[in-house]
Amino acid sequence: MSEKTTAEKPATAQATKATLQYDGKSYDLPVHVGTEGERAIDISKLRTSSGLITLDNGYGNTGACQSSITFIDGERGILRYRGYPIEELAERSTFLEVAYLLIQGELPSKTQLESFTQETTIHTMLHEDFSRFFGSLPKDAHPMPSCAAAVGALATFYQANESDEEVRRSVIRLLAKLPTIAARSYKHSLGQPQIYPSNNLDYCSNFLRMMFAVPCEPYHVDPLVARALDVLMILHADHEQNCSTSTVRMVGSSRANLYASISAGISALWGSLHGGANQEVIEMLEQIAASEGSAEKFLTRAKDKNDTTRLMGFGHRVYKSYDPRAAILKKLCPGILARMGGSSQLLDIAMKLEEIALRDEYFVSRGLYPNVDFYSGVIYKAIGIPVNMFTVMFALGRLPGWIAHWLEMRKDPQFRIGRPRQIYQGATKRTYVAMDQRS
Ligand code: ACO
Repeated sequence: MSEKTTAEKPATAQATKATLQYDGKSYDLPVHVGTEGERAIDISKLRTSSGLITLDNGYGNTGACQSSITFIDGERGILRYRGYPIEELAERSTFLEVAYLLIQGELPSKTQLESFTQETTIHTMLHEDFSRFFGSLPKDAHPMPSCAAAVGALATFYQANESDEEVRRSVIRLLAKLPTIAARSYKHSLGQPQIYPSNNLDYCSNFLRMMFAVPCEPYHVDPLVARALDVLMILHADHEQNCSTSTVRMVGSSRANLYASISAGISALWGSLHGGANQEVIEMLEQIAASEGSAEKFLTRAKDKNDTTRLMGFGHRVYKSYDPRAAILKKLCPGILARMGGSSQLLDIAMKLEEIALRDEYFVSRGLYPNVDFYSGVIYKAIGIPVNMFTVMFALGRLPGWIAHWLEMRKDPQFRIGRPRQIYQGATKRTYVAMDQRS
């Protein structure tokens, strides 16, 4: 069992307020201070008192909730789950232990972890009727929407999911079944028979076997590969209010059930500016390798405002310094590549791109550093995960974070349905024009 560390003393809460002057009037707004000293002006009552709303495209400077799950300091490259630094968790913990930590709020005792692992292990099977579900998808269906649809479909198999105990069971089912769904989505995309889960393997080994074994053939899981996957999943397990997590919260805020909310999160993660970036990183590296183009030439295109090319895996809404997860993965790459005996060409190109970019004024002045996706794809590829499964791998890792946020929101005394405002910029009132009189 990992030893418990004493939480750092929270910053003293300061009962301060901010004053907004507008149109000759002044409005007092409460200021909330987080345990790490972050401050936020509470504008939730501003509209009632002044008629004003706030505008923040992409929610770049908007706190949507108060949360105790994950702390990020993007300027200093800090990431902590429930107070524990990501570096320590990646080195000393396991994915299921981290999942427990995120969901329950504390590291598990030995007995708690055993029982959590046992429950997660014995619910890995999918209902046999899922055969018809997968059978109805196109034969070359991309595994990511297959996963999103299958997770949504779980709500039709488990319809009682309102009470605390039912929600607890849904949490276990999701953690247990998502690897099975993911591997099955992949096997379906290949037209291969599914491999049933094996309850005597650990979480990642079981997943690797379901992905890569073929019926009637022995399959040996390399413990180094299983551990690398475990670390990757730990690094992806939560990242506070990112696009997919906010989606899970938003969908869940209507009191939609956990399966529906997680399914929406998977869809949000699919996009190339979010979880889809790791696929794009590999495609970018392969494109550079195939065209024998230099890293310098590619970076020139990435900086050109008339060119839509971006240096994928670089830049982050929150990190304006090195993403600590990218640093851990960069260190993991050489060992995995050596073990798998593959070419290091893509890693070499990635490191070259990074080296040049971090000396380039364009990237430095904008605070653009490698993010988690820059090196994750190199590892996935080395261990044989196909490119179309990269975002699915991300979803497997992010699942405990989504669940933790959904549960936290459900118990939040400040809970309200998510419903932003807008500044309307369309036509003012017009009179309907009959069809024959329209030009
Ligand atoms: N390559 C080149 N220029 C970039 C890049 C990049 N990867 N990222 C940002 N910039 C530039 C923008 O063009 C912009 O320049 P400007 O100020 O001259 O207009 C400036 O840096 C700020 O960029 P924004 O897009 O405004 O930053 P935002 O916070 O909205 O976007 C994002 C963050 C989406 C991650 C962006 O950096 C990006 O597209 N990166 C590549 C995709 C990627 O790696 N996504 C994965 C993110 S991590 C994750 O989701 C797990």
